[in-house]
Amino acid sequence: MRKYVIAGNWKMNMTPAQTKDLINQMKPLVADATCDVVLCVPYVDIAAAVEAANGSNIKIGAENIHWAQSGAFTGEISGEMLKAAGAQYVIIGHSERRQYFGETDDTVNARLKAAIASGLTPIVCVGETLEQREKNITVETVAMQTKIAFRDISADDAVNTIIAYEPVWAIGTGKTATDEQADEVNGAIRNVIKEIYGIDTAEKIVIQYGGSMNAKNAAGLLAKQHIDGGLIGGASLKAEDFSVIVKAAK
Ligand code: 13P
Repeated sequence: MRKYVIAGNWKMNMTPAQTKDLINQMKPLVADATCDVVLCVPYVDIAAAVEAANGSNIKIGAENIHWAQSGAFTGEISGEMLKAAGAQYVIIGHSERRQYFGETDDTVNARLKAAIASGLTPIVCVGETLEQREKNITVETVAMQTKIAFRDISADDAVNTIIAYEPVWAIGTGKTATDEQADEVNGAIRNVIKEIYGIDTAEKIVIQYGGSMNAKNAAGLLAKQHIDGGLIGGASLKAEDFSVIVKAAK
């Protein structure tokens, strides 16, 4: 049995003070969750988030990581820094990074290796654009992204990595993949993992869905065989909505 993981992705939102407020609101609402609860927050909010979440079941993550351990990489952040700040998870290869900041499948692979080396739990994002879906190359697209992301990653490390299927056309648009569409692609991703690592790893690896997941549609999506959690954008900025999604993961 795979354990559900519900993770928020705050993107470029919240100051440290707002972070404390929101986490303090969330804590009692998610206290009896049976899933893992994670909030991936902007770098400057990590310390405040860790402090606010202390003693609760909320774990804190970051939204990106650089592949080098240190050096002349202005504006970047290393795994060691994230760990020292108290982060336990890190999002890698989000489509907004791919779309606006030149992230490629190869840099995703490099960042994944860095996250594993630092002892962070990676959340690797894959997903097709609307154009790719309309050309009927959704499965090919996510398969390629997954294969390159996991190049030279051992089965032991892969099994502890989370994959998030996030169709680009469903992010922040209010358009959600149907339960069936999401489950179909998550199943295809699981098949790719099976091809690379075998059935054991494929059955254990957590594959989330993300893209306009909200308090209303979460239960239907999470009931599907291959959907083991969610990566939540907008709805993770509202304590009540996020807690409804967390409660749907059981
Ligand atoms: P929304 O839930 O706002 O569509 O964002 C999804 C997402 O990109 C999570 O990483």
